[in-house]
Amino acid sequence: MFGNLKPLPQDKILQLMSMYREDPREQKIDLGVGVYKNAEGVTPVMRAVKAAEQRLWQDETTKSYTALAGEPAYRDAMAALILGEGHDASRVAGAATPGGTGAIHMALELIQMAAPDATVWLSNPTWPNHPSILNHLGMKSAEYRYFDPETRGVDFEGMIADLGRVAPGDVLLLHGCCHNPTGANLNLTQWEEVAAELKKVGAVPLIDLAYQGFGDGLEADAAATRLVASRLPEVMIAASCSKNFGIYRERTGILLALTEDGAARDVTQGTLAHLNRQNFSFPPDHGARLVTMILTDPELRADWQAELEEMRTGMLALREQLADELRTLTGSDRFGFLAQHRGMFSRLGATPEQVVELREKHGIYMVGDSRLNIAGLNKDSVSVLAKAIAEVGV
Ligand code: LMR
Repeated sequence: MFGNLKPLPQDKILQLMSMYREDPREQKIDLGVGVYKNAEGVTPVMRAVKAAEQRLWQDETTKSYTALAGEPAYRDAMAALILGEGHDASRVAGAATPGGTGAIHMALELIQMAAPDATVWLSNPTWPNHPSILNHLGMKSAEYRYFDPETRGVDFEGMIADLGRVAPGDVLLLHGCCHNPTGANLNLTQWEEVAAELKKVGAVPLIDLAYQGFGDGLEADAAATRLVASRLPEVMIAASCSKNFGIYRERTGILLALTEDGAARDVTQGTLAHLNRQNFSFPPDHGARLVTMILTDPELRADWQAELEEMRTGMLALREQLADELRTLTGSDRFGFLAQHRGMFSRLGATPEQVVELREKHGIYMVGDSRLNIAGLNKDSVSVLAKAIAEVGV
């Protein structure tokens, strides 16, 4: 049996993680996988998470199974975080999932059940695991233009032109904020246009929201999702708590499905629970419980938001420093986009050869498409990176 298996291509991001680990050089810089690091290169356990864990350790009386779709309190707290307090809960079905990836996977399975002929449209480029999971599930996919390599901004004209090819019932996967891998994002006027286009066609948005709080702030980063939710009758949102709560290994995510009415909500809720049962039965609970405690306790929540805001503004400062240093070194403003982009990532625009040169000669690790993780930098390594970028001639 196992002799029939063929070696599979390795995930490029995870492959880079191993290459970085194996590199013996002391001065190496990891700008690969999307993990937040502080100035000391550490991915900290956030203060509110530690405090919630302490409370949980004291107060938790059982580790018995929880609900099949996860605790309703987790769903409600996450729906309020994403859709805002006072959102219409009667439309919201939701299930806890193992991480944001689990939520994407579940959304695609839900599409397979509800609209087997739908094509799922992905931005070009997108997070490599999106097409990979789609292929794994044998689903139809297509690409819409998104990134303009010249300006390093959004190719909005191209995007809107491609949305003209979307058929009724198709699904459009959108990054709710902090586009991965480019860092280039739509403004709200553009989101308004995208929502109108989807409504006109009768297509369904699937919003990947993995970086809420890493771009312009918790509320601002949810604005596009809220706009889409208010304009369209059906919306799916795959959210991750890995980054904004720093609980990567706890695998904490959620799929929210906003339905047209309460009857559809009830059937969808049952379907999400069924999908959990088929895939892994009960979802992981520890991270979801911590998130619920933090979001519903004013003291923990305030501390979490304060620390998240420190992380966000720290990344923005690094972006500005990098753009400034490159302006000085190259005597041009062509890297100004780095300060305009938002979130953890920017696509630098280096060629594959320059990416290899940056790695081999300078010990700087970024993904092959020249996606760099801003949070992998600190004030000192920004200068090292800027000099290397100028030297390889990006
Ligand atoms: C990334 O894009 O680097 C992260 O989302 C981590 C991952 O699983 O790929």
